[in-house]
Amino acid sequence: MADEIFVSPKKHGRIMVLLSGRGSNFMKIHDAVRDGEVDAEIALVFSNKEDAPGLRIARERGLETLFLNAKLYPDKEEYDREIIREAGKRGVDLICLAGYMKVLTPLFCAAFKNRIMNIHPALLPSFPGLHVQQKAIDWGVRFSGCTVHFVAAEIDMGPIILQAAVPVLRDDTEETLSARILLEEHKIYPEAVRLYFEGKIEVQDRRVLIRE
Ligand code: GAR
Repeated sequence: MADEIFVSPKKHGRIMVLLSGRGSNFMKIHDAVRDGEVDAEIALVFSNKEDAPGLRIARERGLETLFLNAKLYPDKEEYDREIIREAGKRGVDLICLAGYMKVLTPLFCAAFKNRIMNIHPALLPSFPGLHVQQKAIDWGVRFSGCTVHFVAAEIDMGPIILQAAVPVLRDDTEETLSARILLEEHKIYPEAVRLYFEGKIEVQDRRVLIRE
């Protein structure tokens, strides 16, 4: 039997961003929210890294931030439970992973089914995992790109929401290809969040249809 159809809620959304690093995707989402392009607000920026530049930027932008030290929790599930509690306290509708380099437990994925998005710097399902820009060069693919997808328990394999392709050039290095892909990430991630809170994202089994 087919799964139930999920349709994203049309509402003013409350977003929680999870990041571990530089935070450029977070900034683009925040810019879009601030400029009124996305009907939402960022309720919390969370990191597993105390010194993540993205966390500092969030504080500078006047957003609430939170760091939790995973070493103080008995296991990954307890850590994720705490994050889920923090999200619950703030009435979070959507979690945006933006360079969050910790794998979410199945418990977390199930608690927020169709409510966690991730951005990945490759055209999934090709090149899941890490260092994927270098892998695309090493494989000699002619095109790579980026994918915004819902997060499911199987890493990098949740339903695909938006993708953008870029050419892989003969002289590309990991840095040049990453930079070309990142420009596209900065377009499609805010766009996916906009569509989400406009009630335009429909998920059936593993397919996403955009209702325009
Ligand atoms: C981005 O390129 C994102 O696609 C990638 O980390 C970078 C974070 O940059 N994410 C992954 O590789 C997830 N598997 P940012 O901190 O500037 O947004």
